[in-house]
Amino acid sequence: MTKVPAEADWDAAPGLLDGAANLELTVAQCDLSYWFSAVAQGTLKGRPDGYSGELSTPDYMREPGPLREALTLELVYRSLDEEAATKVLADYVAMAPDIPELEFFSTQLMDEARHHMIFRNHLLNLGHPAEGLMDWIRQTGAEYKKKVLTPVQEFATQIVRTEGDFVGGVVAFAIIIEGVLAASTELSELKWGVLDPAAGEIARGAAIDEIRHLAVGSSYVRQHLIDHPEDRPHVLDVLRRGRELWGTIEDAEFVMTREQLFQEGMQAHKELLKDYELFPGKRLIDTTPEDRWAIAAQWNDELADARLAYMGIPEAIEFLRASAPRIL
Ligand SMILES: [Fe+2]
Ligand SMILES: [Fe+2]
Repeated sequence: MTKVPAEADWDAAPGLLDGAANLELTVAQCDLSYWFSAVAQGTLKGRPDGYSGELSTPDYMREPGPLREALTLELVYRSLDEEAATKVLADYVAMAPDIPELEFFSTQLMDEARHHMIFRNHLLNLGHPAEGLMDWIRQTGAEYKKKVLTPVQEFATQIVRTEGDFVGGVVAFAIIIEGVLAASTELSELKWGVLDPAAGEIARGAAIDEIRHLAVGSSYVRQHLIDHPEDRPHVLDVLRRGRELWGTIEDAEFVMTREQLFQEGMQAHKELLKDYELFPGKRLIDTTPEDRWAIAAQWNDELADARLAYMGIPEAIEFLRASAPRIL
């Protein structure tokens, strides 16, 4: 049996921010064969639905109230994010300049479609009815889709499909879109790990995939800039456009509503959370929505610093920080 590489191994993989900041993976390495052995038969072994079948969602997560509402909103937004990502990635597959890109982006498309499935299906574990689920998700997330998701989706489509700019598209996806979401994925794993272990595993599995997406995206841009140093101003320009876009997006209302609900909801579980730390010295129960916002912003900055330096464009650190993408 082929050994599952550490970065895709459920127990051995690093945390998302650590892995995405420090691992080197390339499109050529992460081809279809890698995906079948490392992901389908590795990360997903025993967890085809995103979490171990032995885990069940606690009853209190099905009781109407702020905790259920907070996770519901998170799953609704994430389902819509992943659906949009899958559709956008179809353009990346269509525009792939060569076979390594074709294979890698086909696997990423499959990963995002799978994330959509597992986030969507966890809503059933919270007691939402299966009938009409997707219609209900679209209704509940309509404002979020309009104000946050659609502009971001259109940005990626504009670059890769309309402008036919593949490397610009990789920059947009790996740095502007997934880079900004990485902190929220890590935080989600930490927030739900104790309260709803299945939701924690769902977030963990998605995080293991994101390590690969972010690491491969950055190595692709890095190699492109080594091979085509003349494209540097162009890559910086795509980053500038992405920063401008984030400056116009009103995500705060969605993030804070959800975090307020989580705040109220976790108070009923003080005992369960009494020893649980987000990171050494910081108990989850002691954090406020504003603290978690600030933690995510700091993680985003740290990840961007590490990746931009690795890609050879450290000058982008300053102006990307200035954009302070806030999505939790
Ligand atoms: Fe995803
Ligand atoms: Fe991804």
